[in-house]
Amino acid sequence: MQFVVHPGSVQDAAVAVPGDKSISHRAVMLGSVATGATHISGFLNGEDCLATLAAMKSMGVRTEQHDATTLTVHGAGLHGLQAPAGDLDMGNSGTAMRLMTGLLAGQGFDSRLVGDASLTSRPMRRIITPLEAMGASIGSRDGRPPLEIRGGRPLQAIHYDLPVASAQVKSAVLLAGLYADGVTSVTEPAVTRDHTERMLTAMGVAVRRQDGRVAIAGGQQPAGISVEVPGDLSSAAFVMLGACISDTASVLIRNVGINPTRTGIIDILRAMGGNVELTHSREQSGELVADIRVHSSELVGIDIDPALVSLAIDEFPVLFVAAACASGKTTFSGIGELRVKESDRIAAMASGLRELGIRVDESEDGAVVHGGQFGGGTVQSYGDHRIAMSLAVAGTIAGAPVTVRDTDAVATSFPGFVELLGVLGARITAVAT
Ligand code: S3P
Repeated sequence: MQFVVHPGSVQDAAVAVPGDKSISHRAVMLGSVATGATHISGFLNGEDCLATLAAMKSMGVRTEQHDATTLTVHGAGLHGLQAPAGDLDMGNSGTAMRLMTGLLAGQGFDSRLVGDASLTSRPMRRIITPLEAMGASIGSRDGRPPLEIRGGRPLQAIHYDLPVASAQVKSAVLLAGLYADGVTSVTEPAVTRDHTERMLTAMGVAVRRQDGRVAIAGGQQPAGISVEVPGDLSSAAFVMLGACISDTASVLIRNVGINPTRTGIIDILRAMGGNVELTHSREQSGELVADIRVHSSELVGIDIDPALVSLAIDEFPVLFVAAACASGKTTFSGIGELRVKESDRIAAMASGLRELGIRVDESEDGAVVHGGQFGGGTVQSYGDHRIAMSLAVAGTIAGAPVTVRDTDAVATSFPGFVELLGVLGARITAVAT
């Protein structure tokens, strides 16, 4: 599939975006090892979370699908999962693979996790090291998937100082900690998303958080709850960008998660002059939620505060496009982690923006983007959903049509992206290739 985008910027509209990916994964995983039923509404029925759901079903978890985004997971309890008949396919999802490995390290059976070409090239040593320190045994292909997890190994609690700021690594260790003897704790070099801690707490597990340290005593049994998954701020970010760079639009995005460990995109867009308002802030299933209104804005280039990187880790492709639309130059630093996401996102965005006529100076862990005007052209997504969607939004204000290649992966996180952009007035079509 490829996207063809004809010039025509976003118009006034009120929309909603699909459910939060991080929360959807966790609702299924934690619901599966909880006791009783976990009712999930607003579930992201994208390929990533469906891979997590399929894995849990193949380990004997019973689920009832009420409609595309509403389901009930009947928890099997901490020790109720059964050995799967074959490999567990995590598709494109780093979150599914890393969190699942933490959970599987404590099971009584062997399991093998596989993924697509992108996932198979991603670093897993970052979870293998702490999990093996707890007593797990995890085979890999030189630190990359497939991962072979040998079951029946007693786990011991550890304290782990995360060398990289990663919610996936933190969560993998905490999930293994549920099965460990003693109190497992982690500290992180920068604050990362805390959905695991919040959901465990909502499920009745005592999670101690003090002075940047998260601690959990092993053997605590989570209890099923109702989870109302909010819209994903990382998906809303594409709509926010479209509104910011449009001539006149004012767009309302309803019911979006604004967990403070995720709101770097709002802070950075505002620092660039983005007109972003939050209304109706409220709490829902232990998470903060709001409606977001974004008006067309005069963006200006800034030096992005590296302290905000982990709070906006998935939004840098969007921010590269915002920087290209800003006056002056925008400096990104401390973003080396982007090189090991679904693609090398620094290289992918630099090449896409250059193709559209923007100057980008790239360094190992950063970039300088010089504001300019987009021309038309054909750009690669490198099979990365967020690169595809960011460049598609750039196309809405380009001087000529933009074709974005290799866009199938958009289905991993944002089913209905093309249709939603259409509702917003963009002239985008998905074309089979
Ligand atoms: C996620 C954590 C982030 C993020 C990913 C989702 C999660 O990865 O990039 O899309 O749900 O825990 P890292 O924590 O590895 O940076």
